[in-house]
Amino acid sequence: MKIAVIGTGYVGLVTGTCFSEVGHDVTCVDIDAAKIEALRFGRIPIYEPGLDEMVALNVEHGRLSFTTDLKAAIEKALFVFIAVGTPPLEDGTADLKHVLAAAKSIGDYINGYKIVVNKSTVPVGTAEKVRNTIEATLRERKMRFDFDVVSNPEFLREGCAIDDFMNPDRIVIGCSDCRTEVLMKELYASFIRDGHPVMTMDTTSSEMTKYAANAMLAMKISFINEIATICERVGANVEDVRNGIGSDSRIGYQFIFPGIGYGGSCFPKDVQALVSTARTAGHEPRLLKSVEEVNQTQKTALLRKVEAYYDGDLTGKRFAMWGLSFKPETDDVREAPSLLLIDALVKAGAEVQAYDPKAMREAQRYLGPRAGVTYAEDSYSALQNCDALLIVTEWSYFKNPDFDRMKTLLKAPVIFDGRNIFSTDLVKMLGFDYDSIGRAPVLAHSQARATRLKAVV
Ligand SMILES: NC(=O)c1ccc[n+]([C@@H]2O[C@H](COP(=O)([O-])OP(=O)(O)OC[C@H]3O[C@@H](n4cnc5c(N)ncnc54)[C@H](O)[C@@H]3O)[C@@H](O)[C@H]2O)c1
Repeated sequence: MKIAVIGTGYVGLVTGTCFSEVGHDVTCVDIDAAKIEALRFGRIPIYEPGLDEMVALNVEHGRLSFTTDLKAAIEKALFVFIAVGTPPLEDGTADLKHVLAAAKSIGDYINGYKIVVNKSTVPVGTAEKVRNTIEATLRERKMRFDFDVVSNPEFLREGCAIDDFMNPDRIVIGCSDCRTEVLMKELYASFIRDGHPVMTMDTTSSEMTKYAANAMLAMKISFINEIATICERVGANVEDVRNGIGSDSRIGYQFIFPGIGYGGSCFPKDVQALVSTARTAGHEPRLLKSVEEVNQTQKTALLRKVEAYYDGDLTGKRFAMWGLSFKPETDDVREAPSLLLIDALVKAGAEVQAYDPKAMREAQRYLGPRAGVTYAEDSYSALQNCDALLIVTEWSYFKNPDFDRMKTLLKAPVIFDGRNIFSTDLVKMLGFDYDSIGRAPVLAHSQARATRLKAVV
């Protein structure tokens, strides 16, 4: 089937590539000419494991192409996917300007029956707005074409996006037209052969499903982070508590890892957008507000620990930072705790020497040139002449470092771990001062510091 995907970012590029992988004819369109140019030269603008090989193969076989020519892409396609960004406005509401601009382009270039599929995460009522925009544009053109608007939210996770897209837990389709439903199921037939369900519903419920899913996952993270804070206060170990509750099949282990808060381009903005939707509908969403508030506080947890350790004076201190992306296996730094942390440390008079295997270019783009921030070539050179190490993203290979080498590079053996990647017993044995989330600090070097840190939690 012929598909156009408008928006070639994390979702659009993966969606287009995976559809081409199962034999569909896909044109990915973007208004960012530099991005399209790079893709045409085989350069993938994002880091997503396995994506570069899959793009190259499908381009080679002629099933996948990239263009800025919206007209040609829309005219050729039966399915037109909208996969553009929906960033938050000042009040938390999702900004639909890119979605409606894409809808306007569809109205400008539609030349026959089309199925317009909204893959962007959008508030309830957006399918209707997209339909109205296309109809208004067609009226201006004094033309009439049959088309349908479908809501088809995307649940992929950055870092394992290809596997998630190729083997989805479910496919949610919001539509009201039987012919469209049959065609949508046909489009996805290759992804559901092993029994994963296609769930059809009205567009409002489909749009709501995406927000409810992300809010639920964000809630699990804020829940365990709140439990971690209580553990610190009462002297419990949150990792034991996590195992204790995760083994309960009603709870499960997923999304209950304590840390320094959720980030990324989805959870923060989607929780805010759902809060805004609820308020507009006349309901004050107290639970969702708390999820957000707990997360904001958690993002500063590591900073508070660092400040306590150094008696509130970070002037002239130099910190190594391992990890910049909001989670491992991606270069995405949108809303990453690292950015907030770097900002606060530099403002407090400290320097940061950061290392991330994939996200340094993105972090530099977001932070801009900034005095006091340097980027190291590898995880060990980041430690050189630093007072302590801060662990911000749990990339796998940070988990088993050469601790002896770390000790020779750091000025003092001190680690603040925002992701609980080391066992407290191990670092204690190795003679590090170590503070993590929801566990008692290990202080090999100073009893006075132990008392101060206990007071801060
Ligand atoms: N990133 C994720 O993990 C993820 C997962 C599920 C859903 N989503 C949702 O999918 C949507 C897209 O997210 P993303 O992370 O891929 O965004 P992104 O910012 O990475 O990519 C969006 C792309 O759309 C392009 N664009 C904007 N307006 C356009 C227009 N009028 N015509 C053509 N191209 C246009 C931009 O240039 C950009 O390349 C969002 O609504 C997001 O909430 C994201």
